[in-house]
Amino acid sequence: MGWGLRNRMSRIIRPETGRSVMLAVDHGYFMGPTTGLRDLGKAVKDLLPYTDTLMLSRGMLRNCIANTTSTPIVLRASGGTSIIGKELLHEGITMTVKNAVRLNAAGVAFSICVGTDFERNTILGLSRLIDEAEEYGMPVVAVTAVGKGLGKDERYLSLSSRIAAEHGAHIVKTYYCEGFDKVIESCPVPVVMAGGQKLPESEALEMTYNAIHGGAVGVDMGRNIFQSEDPVAMIQAVREVVHKNATPKEGLQVFDELRARKPLENE
Ligand code: 5RP
Repeated sequence: MGWGLRNRMSRIIRPETGRSVMLAVDHGYFMGPTTGLRDLGKAVKDLLPYTDTLMLSRGMLRNCIANTTSTPIVLRASGGTSIIGKELLHEGITMTVKNAVRLNAAGVAFSICVGTDFERNTILGLSRLIDEAEEYGMPVVAVTAVGKGLGKDERYLSLSSRIAAEHGAHIVKTYYCEGFDKVIESCPVPVVMAGGQKLPESEALEMTYNAIHGGAVGVDMGRNIFQSEDPVAMIQAVREVVHKNATPKEGLQVFDELRARKPLENE
C-alpha cells in the first residue's frame, strides 16, 4: 500500500482508536429524497462534528456541503438504477477516480450484488474501479448489497464480503448478522457495518456493540442516525460504543442524557 492510499485510509479509519464512525447519507442516489435527508445540507450540518467520514454522492457534496469542511469524504461511485426500476442495484461505475481526487475524496464506494443475475457486471465494475483507484492511491469501499431475494445471513454476507476482498476492496461495508464474527474471520480487510432500516435506538446501539466486538472497525450508518428522534444525540451515543467501547446500556444513557438536555421548543 502506497503512502497516499495509507494516508487516505487513516482519514477514514481514525488511527487513535483504529475505528470509524462513518455517516452514510448517499441513499438518494437510488432512492431519491429519503426521509430525514430531504434537505441533506441541513440534516448533516450538526452531525459533521461527530462524523469521522461522510459518505455521499458527488452531487450532494458539491451542492450541500461547505467546501471548507475538514470531514473526510467517501464518494459513492456506483449507481445507474433506482427503486422504481426493474433491476434494483444493478450498478455500474458513475464517476472517475480523477473526479474523486479533484473533490479531495478520501475514498470511493461501489456496491456489488452477489447472487443476482447481474452479479458479474457489478463484480467486474468493482475490479475496474479498484484498478483505477489504485493508480491514484484512493481506497475503495465495497458495499455488499442486500435486497429482495438476497440473503442477509452469515453465509451470504461472508460470501459477498470475501468476494469483495478477493477483488481488492480496501474496506468492506456489510450488514450485521448472527455469526458476524465468521464474516470478519474470512474477510482480511477492515469491515464497517451498515445500519439498515431504522431500529429503536437501544437496538441500533446493541447491534453496533455486537458488530464492534465481533471485529468490525466501525459503522457506516445512515437511517439509524439521521432518522433518529435526536440524530445529534444518537451519533454521539454511537461514537461512545465505537470509539470508547461503551456498552449498549452506556450508549443509551448518553443518548438519553443528551436528548434530555435539549431546550423545549418554547424556551
Ligand atoms: C446503500 C448504502 C447506504 O449507504 C447504506 O445502506 C447505509 O445506510 P443505512 O445505515 O441507512 O443502511 O450503501 O447501498
